[in-house]
Formats: sequence, C-alpha cells, structure tokens
Amino acid sequence: MSKKIKAGIVFGTRPEAIKMAPVVLEFQKREEIEPIVIVTAQHRQMLDSVLNLFNITPDFDLNLMRENQNLWELTSNIILSTKKVFEEIKPDVVLVHGDTTTSSASALSAFYGKIPIGHVEAGLRTFNKDYPFPEEINRVIVDSVCDFHFCPTKGSIENLKKSGINPKYEFFETGNTVIDALFHTIQNDKNEYDFNLDKNLRTILLTSHRRENFGEPLENICKAALKIIEDNSDVQIIYPVHPNPNVKNTVEKYLSSNERIKLVPPLDYAPFCSLMKQAEIILTDSGGIQEEAPSLGVPTIVLRDETERPEALLSGGVKLAGCDISKITSIVNTLLGDKNEYEKMSKAVNPYGDGLASKRIADIIIEKLG
Ligand code: UD1
Ligand code: UDP
Repeated sequence: MSKKIKAGIVFGTRPEAIKMAPVVLEFQKREEIEPIVIVTAQHRQMLDSVLNLFNITPDFDLNLMRENQNLWELTSNIILSTKKVFEEIKPDVVLVHGDTTTSSASALSAFYGKIPIGHVEAGLRTFNKDYPFPEEINRVIVDSVCDFHFCPTKGSIENLKKSGINPKYEFFETGNTVIDALFHTIQNDKNEYDFNLDKNLRTILLTSHRRENFGEPLENICKAALKIIEDNSDVQIIYPVHPNPNVKNTVEKYLSSNERIKLVPPLDYAPFCSLMKQAEIILTDSGGIQEEAPSLGVPTIVLRDETERPEALLSGGVKLAGCDISKITSIVNTLLGDKNEYEKMSKAVNPYGDGLASKRIADIIIEKLG
C-alpha cells in the first residue's frame, strides 16, 4: 500500500470535541489514513470529559486553557503552539472544526505552513460580524484559507458561494457530524441517569453561554426563567451552567435560590443526551443543541435574534426568541398549554444529517489525497 495520509485533527472546546470525535473514530478505522489528534485544550474539563467518553487519547495536548482567558492571548498561543506541532509532524492535511478560536487560529497556522486544510462544518453564516461574536468571523477566516469545505447542508454550500469562496476549493455536502456523535452516544450508552428532578413536574432544560449575551441579555434570560416558573406551577427548570465566569456569576446571582430551578455543573455528553430526551422543552443559545434537539423531537427555543442554522427553523423544530423576556415566556407558555403547537414542533424533521457525515469525510480525504 502507498504511504498513509497523515491527517492532523485539531480541536479544543467541548462542541468541537463532540463533533470531531466521530471523525477521529472513523479515520482510525481506515488503513489509508493516519489520524494525529492535536488538542489545544481551549477548554480543559469539558474537553477531557468528551475525550474520555469517546476513548480518544490526544497525540499532542497543548494545554492552553487559562481562567477567564482573553481572545488575544488564546489566539496567539494557539498559532505559536500549533506551528511547532505542524513542523514536527508535517501533516498532509489539517482538519479543523466550526468557528471557535481554536478553529480560526489553527487554520491560520496551517495556512502559514502551506498545509492543505479541511473545514468540518463549513459554510455556516449569519452575514453579521457581531452575531455570534467572534464566531462569525472565525468561520469566514477558516472558510477563506481552507481547501476542502465539508458543509453540513445545501444551505451552507450556498453561503460559501455567496461569500465569494472560489469553488476550486471544493464544497462537499456531508451532513453534520453532530448527528453521528448523537446517534453513536444514544446507541452505545445504556445507562439510566437520575438528575434528582421532581417526577411530578414538567421539565425545561436551559443552557446559555454566548459572548454577545453577556450582561443584560443573559440577565433577561434569567428573568424569563423566573417568570416561566412563576407562571407555571407545574414546571421545573434544569440548567447545566457553563463554567465561563461571565456566565456562572450572573446565573448564580439570579437563579440559585429558586426551589424549582436546579443549577448543575456542565454534564458529560452521555447524561446530557439523556437529559435532552427527558426535557419537554429546551431553551438555549447553543449551536450544537439547536442541531441535536430536532433529532430527539424536543421543541427548542433559541435565545438569539438570528441563527446561522436556519434549517431547523424552516423545518419547524426550532423557534427564535432572542433575549426578550416577554417573547421567551410567551412562546414557552403557548407550548406548555397548546398540544397542537407542541406536536407541530416535536414532529419536525431533523435537517442536519443521517449519522454518516464522518464516513463521507473519510471517503473524500482518501479520494483526494490518497
Ligand atoms: C468557547 C467558544 C465558543 C463556543 C463555546 C462552547 C471562542 C471564542 N468561544 O466559548 O464559540 O460556543 O466555547 O462552549 O472560541 N472554562 C473552564 N473549564 C472548561 C471550559 C471553560 O473553566 O472546561 C472557563 C475558563 O475560565 C475559560 C472560560 O471558561 O477561560 C472561557 O472559555 P473560552 O473557551 O474562552 O470561551 P467559551 O465561552 O467557553
Ligand atoms: N453539552 C453537554 N453538556 C452540557 C451542555 C451541552 O455535553 O452540560 C453538549 C451539547 O449536547 C452539544 C454541545 O455540548 O453537543 C454544545 O456545546 P456548547 O453549547 O458549549 O457550544 P456551541 O455548540 O454553542 O458552540
């Protein structure tokens, strides 16, 4: 057999790890590819929990997370540290995921080293540089320097065309690897999880962590949660709180003393999938959860004014509420009270893939670089 394709796979945060784990597992199965896992550890505990679940041992762990880190230092540390690793391993291709600082800084670093780059989850756009911040510009940076765009949907391919990316840097519709991760986890994990919730109450799952929501918008999300509890005596809210101090401090200040609101630390991915399934409604500003929830049939209210994931809005599983207290509470109260509305949302089709995205990515890498 000819020489194996050396594929450096770089990720650093929880969502990238969840969405890149199926790619790593698929590459490990292919004799044509030698996967080399490089983690920046932009996240530490939340990254390690995903690595454990998928049984992935990084070949390089850059260990870069700092308490309440800033974008300048993190970006420059990632560029300098990945440069050293790329120089040592000389990969044939580097794969990055999505829109974090890890994605944009490691893609730039590979670009400076003239290494071919593949972008997993390419082509998402709001076309608004401040929403989400800084992710929209991270996506633009990665899509501008990469050679292979692995797009989750037809819409993401259209976005690349609109962005003026030269199609000689190829666009492939693969589906989103988050569906691979979700199906893999649900099929392999048979544990029952007990979150100490009251069995007589209806459960709403809440998560929030976006930078553009820090301050007043996040305070409004908390006030909306309190209002939902006040309006509905049969409802409880569970909130796995993101460890970013800008989130944790606000959420604890507003929500820690209500007996029907349960704040818990970030959950490992397998129990979190179980909790999503148990929830009647999800409120979130997360990207990944917007993609997973329609596969689980759980109506999801997105706590943002715009989304780069319009597919689930169109298919009906997701609604946008922004961070407006009355808009959030009114949508939630309607869903809690109106069975037809609820069923319409919960029966919507998942537009993000069939669980085979990683296989398609591996096939393309072998076809193009083998
Ligand atoms: C990052 C990404 C965001 C992604 C989110 C997913 C950037 C700029 N932001 O935001 O796109 O949606 O991850 O969660 O890339 N922390 C811990 N332990 C952890 C993880 C984080 O303590 O395991 C704390 C640390 O104090 C850290 C802070 O959270 O400094 C912020 O982490 P950072 O990755 O910079 O930003 P996120 O808000 O997590
Ligand atoms: N998630 C998790 N535990 C939690 C909250 C979320 O495993 O306590 C998972 C979730 O299922 C999804 C991913 O983390 O796959 C989303 O991460 P996050 O919301 O932090 O980032 P985003 O997707 O917004 O970039």
